[in-house]
Amino acid sequence: MLGSIWRSIKFLTPSFNRALSKFGYEMAAKNFQFEDWRFMNFGYVYENDKDSPVLEKTDELDRYFIQLYDHLIKDLNVENKKILEVGSGRGGGANYISKYYKPLSYVGIDISQNAIDFSNRVNNIDTLSFEQGDAENLSFKDQTFDIVINVESSHCYGSFDKFLSEVFRVLPSDGYFAFTDIMTISKWNEIEKIINNSKFRKIYEKDISQNALNSLTKVSEWRKTWLEDKFPSFVRGVAEDISAVKGTRPYNKLESGKLIYKTYLFVKD
Ligand SMILES: C[S@@+](CC[C@H](N)C(=O)[O-])C[C@H]1O[C@@H](n2cnc3c(N)ncnc32)[C@H](O)[C@@H]1O
Repeated sequence: MLGSIWRSIKFLTPSFNRALSKFGYEMAAKNFQFEDWRFMNFGYVYENDKDSPVLEKTDELDRYFIQLYDHLIKDLNVENKKILEVGSGRGGGANYISKYYKPLSYVGIDISQNAIDFSNRVNNIDTLSFEQGDAENLSFKDQTFDIVINVESSHCYGSFDKFLSEVFRVLPSDGYFAFTDIMTISKWNEIEKIINNSKFRKIYEKDISQNALNSLTKVSEWRKTWLEDKFPSFVRGVAEDISAVKGTRPYNKLESGKLIYKTYLFVKD
């Protein structure tokens, strides 16, 4: 029941979508503080196993969620760079990149103060910090970072246009913006227009729907059991929907091509 209400009202207007997303993620971070829940993305399966990163045992359970981050930044020279992540969620991706790729500094921002408090509590790496912030109004000076990354978060924003201008502003020339998200075809058409009108140069664009779907398929059974164990029954429908376990509408829409998962890399010339 809650699941169908959530689905029908979430995309009514951009500002409503924005407010509801903020509320939902605040509630999730406040009420479900499990330390083994570090990611809120669909994940990514590499076509070739040889591309999969070698992980420490403690990170193995999150392999596919980690790989969504990994595929985004593996070809960038991250070492000693200043990274901003917008929409860092529970901080799992920030932790992975900081630990394995060793940037000079990594700042994760998220609209949810509860998610930020959680991230600061569970992620203790000297070069990594988290602060509350809004994708559409970044609190940083011009040209503060070398790389901005954004994972499965931009569909929550009221204005992608404002977000993209803010990313452009906080990067120097030669700064990179790597982003990945899932949207409907019509939403992607709107985003494409905004991208084409921006000053960024697109280096590549990839459809990663199959990689994401393969990940969801692999983690579905495990995720269902985990949700049953951790979440009360009245929110489980929403939680299964948001996690896109096999058989939910987001899973089916990704499978049928109504939802598309894409990755982009841009540079500021
Ligand atoms: C699906 S979660 C993904 C989190 C994380 N990137 C991951 O992969 O685990 C989307 C995140 O975007 C955040 N978010 C939504 N709107 C935002 C905004 N306007 N500014 C910053 N973060 C936002 C949410 O609070 C949530 O943590």
